[in-house]
Amino acid sequence: MALLEILHYPEPLLKKTSVPVTVFDDELRQLAKDMADTMYDAPGVGLAAPQVGVLKRFIVMDCSTGEEPDDLIFAVNPEIVAREGDAVEEEGCLSVPGFFANINRAAQVRMRYQDLAGNTLERDADGLLAICIQHEIDHLDGVLFVDRLSPLKRSMFRKKYLKMLKEREQADAT
Ligand code: NI
Repeated sequence: MALLEILHYPEPLLKKTSVPVTVFDDELRQLAKDMADTMYDAPGVGLAAPQVGVLKRFIVMDCSTGEEPDDLIFAVNPEIVAREGDAVEEEGCLSVPGFFANINRAAQVRMRYQDLAGNTLERDADGLLAICIQHEIDHLDGVLFVDRLSPLKRSMFRKKYLKMLKEREQADAT
């Protein structure tokens, strides 16, 4: 089991747009396995490749946090092809540890993606999985959930978060 390092805000790589996956090889399968291990270890319900420093359009999700083997989803080149309704849920992110906020999303989505063999699939989702799909695909476009806050809440977040980082650094230095 290989655990990957999860990058934290304000790491600049998290703001980059990832490129499509074109090769479905052992390297991709290894990345998938390592990202799943890293997600379960964190623990989290989703992880996008740029969060481990790989700028490829690839995400891993498991809203059951390992309870249901069928809930583990590897989605290559995922895109949302339909969305419906509104939902507001409290979100967090492994790249923004210790911070949670309510974010507006679509309540239901249809995701088109490829599996690890390159087959194109579609999946309808609601509830937590729908939120997770939107959150993880955002990562592939360099968007963090805190970027979806209102400008005022976002600047409050930034202040609070950077202060927390500074305090942590000072604690580490002593
Ligand atoms: Ni995230």
